[in-house]
Amino acid sequence: MEDQAEKLREMMRKKNIGDKQGKVRDGKKTRIITVTSGKGGVGKTNVSVNMALAYARLGKKVVVMDADLGLANVNVMLNMIPKWNLYHVIRKQKTMREIMVDTEYGISIVAGASGFSKIANLSEEERQNFIEELDTLSSADIIIIDTSAGVSSNVLDFIAAADDAVIITTPEPTAITDAYGIIKIIATEIDSLDMGLKLVVNRVHSVAEAKKVADRMTNIAGQFLNLKVEYLGFIFDDAMVSQAVLRQKPFMVIDPKCRASLCVQHIVGRMEKNDLGANAGIGRMMKRLFSRN
Ligand SMILES: Nc1ncnc2c1ncn2[C@@H]1O[C@H](COP(=O)(O)OP(=O)(O)O)[C@@H](O)[C@H]1O
Ligand SMILES: [Mg+2]
Repeated sequence: MEDQAEKLREMMRKKNIGDKQGKVRDGKKTRIITVTSGKGGVGKTNVSVNMALAYARLGKKVVVMDADLGLANVNVMLNMIPKWNLYHVIRKQKTMREIMVDTEYGISIVAGASGFSKIANLSEEERQNFIEELDTLSSADIIIIDTSAGVSSNVLDFIAAADDAVIITTPEPTAITDAYGIIKIIATEIDSLDMGLKLVVNRVHSVAEAKKVADRMTNIAGQFLNLKVEYLGFIFDDAMVSQAVLRQKPFMVIDPKCRASLCVQHIVGRMEKNDLGANAGIGRMMKRLFSRN
């Protein structure tokens, strides 16, 4: 524990020097956005990848990290078979930079490690290595972390470390219940909740349907958890999404004007508007990850 704290301080010192000389980060902040849900199959990976594309269209340098170590599929969605993935980083065989690959769509990805156990099962050393490696992605403007569904220590670590946690639900009662469940756990497990907790309602058939779900969620979170959850927006249920998945191309690429694409662009527009930006990006991420030990 003490070792880790010392190591962290040392890294922060180095970072400060770099900042002052303008070498390391150029005064730029990296915004870390975690995309998560209570229930699986609600659209996390689609939202992560397509949000990344919407950000790229705004000229941002974006990395999508597939942190779903059980069912990694960002690369599948993009029809890529990266040679290396997070498994190799965790095992210290590769650095994060080495495994990061550019896509033809102007975003970069860090592939997940399918079938790998949860990060919670990593040894302290492996975990620390992983965290240090994250720091090397600080040249990105945005890092979007696609997590697995549900609550694991792994997911909570990422959420705790992020600037924003985007919770995805669909209007299905089971998805709503599970989304509420994860919000509740975030509220109890992460003590200083100074990140933006945001809600996206996916697969809706009308604006009113989305609003009803969002109102319900934000009211319950406010009333019972004293937690502010911001309703970020909705995504229409759109046949283009599954078509795109089948063709292994993002729907934002196949049809940037389809209903789902327009919704995602709207969501990113909202994110940009309320980018507090002042949170210390990766530096803060490291601090928070360490403080959860
Ligand atoms: N807005 C949407 N409209 C239609 N189908 C969708 C939409 N979002 C997700 N889906 C369907 O749900 C499936 C699961 O989405 P995915 O992003 O893989 O979820 P998760 O990452 O949460 O498991 C997609 O393959 C697609 O068929
Ligand atoms: Mg997924």
